[in-house]
Amino acid sequence: MVSLILNPPLNTSALSPASPQFINRDTDALPGQGPGPVQELSEGLMAVDASVSPKYFYNALGSRLFEAITGLSEYYPTRTEAGIFETCHAHLARALAERGIQRPCLIDLGAGNCAKAMALIPHLQPRQYVPVDISVDFLKDAAAQVQSCFPALDIVGLGMDFSAGLALPAAVQAEDRVFFYPGSSLGNFQPAQALQFLQHIADPAQGHARGLVLGIDLVKDKATLEAAYDDALGVTAAFNKNLLLNVNQLIQSDFDVRQWRHVALFDAAQSRIEMHLEATQALSVQWPGHTRRFEAGERIHTESSYKYTPDGMTALLKQAGFSQVRHWSDPKNWFAVFWASV
Ligand code: AVJ
Repeated sequence: MVSLILNPPLNTSALSPASPQFINRDTDALPGQGPGPVQELSEGLMAVDASVSPKYFYNALGSRLFEAITGLSEYYPTRTEAGIFETCHAHLARALAERGIQRPCLIDLGAGNCAKAMALIPHLQPRQYVPVDISVDFLKDAAAQVQSCFPALDIVGLGMDFSAGLALPAAVQAEDRVFFYPGSSLGNFQPAQALQFLQHIADPAQGHARGLVLGIDLVKDKATLEAAYDDALGVTAAFNKNLLLNVNQLIQSDFDVRQWRHVALFDAAQSRIEMHLEATQALSVQWPGHTRRFEAGERIHTESSYKYTPDGMTALLKQAGFSQVRHWSDPKNWFAVFWASV
C-alpha cells in the first residue's frame, strides 16, 4: 500500500507507554510524623484493650485478599459504588467544569488496584494521576497497568502512609488538585479524626485541593452489614487473620494464626462495624522486648468501619470547610458518592 510507505514514520513514543514515576516514602525515615510501625504496634498490642490499626491489613497478600473481598456477593460496597459512578460521572465532570477545573491532578488516596480511578479517568480527563498507597509493591503493578491503559497520562505513584500526613512531593502538580477517596476508607477513621483529615484536605494551605470526590458507606440494617464483614467463604476472616502474619513480619512476633478467630459485629450506637481477632485459648505472644498474654476470648480490635447518613456526611464536609457539597446514591441508599469543592 502506497499510502503506508508515504506516511511519516509512526510516533513510537505515543505507542510505547511511559513507565510511571514512583516515589517511596518510608514512614520510619520521616521524623516528626509520629511513631514508626514497631513502636505503634507494640503500644497497641500491650494495651489492656489490645488493638492494631487497620492499615496493617495491607501487605501484598492483604491487598490481594481485599481485592477478593470486593468481588464477594455479601460485600456490596464496591459494586454499589461502581454503579453510582456509572450514573454520576457525567454530573461529576460537569460539577468540576463549573468550578473551572479543566485538567485536574487526580490524587487517589488508598489506590489499591486503581480500578476505581481507571473507570473515572476517561470522564475527568486528568492531566496527572497520583495513586497513593501504603502497599508499595501492589501499587507499583497497579500503576503500571493504569499506564498501559492510558499511555499518555502522567502518573506519579506514591508509596506512603497518608494517615501520617498529606505532604506531597514536588512532582505532584500543584494546580487543580482533586482528591479521590473512594471505597468508604474514610470510615476507618473515628468521626473526630475523619473531620481532621477532611479539614486537612480542605485547607488551601495544606493540600492545595480544589475539591474531593468521596465514596462512603451508609447506615443500613445490621444483618446486611454483618454479612458484608463475615462472608460465607471466610475471605474476610482470612483478611483479618493475615494481619497477624504482617505483624509477625514487622516486629518479629510469634502469633499463631490458628489460635485466633474472626469476629465482626455492628455497633448501632456508634454506627460502626467492628472487626476483632479473638483468642480461642489462653496464649502468649512474644517479640523482642515484649510478652503479651491473652486469655481465652480476649480480643484484638483490628478495624472500625463507620457508617454515615447522607445528612451526617454533608454536615461533616461542611464543618471541615468545603463550600459546596452534593452527593449521588444508589436506589437502595446503601452507598453515597460525594463531590465537595473547596
Ligand atoms: C477498605 C476500609 C473500606 O471497611 O469496608 C473490608 C475494609 N474490612 N472488609 C471496609 C474491609 C473488611 C474496607 N475499607
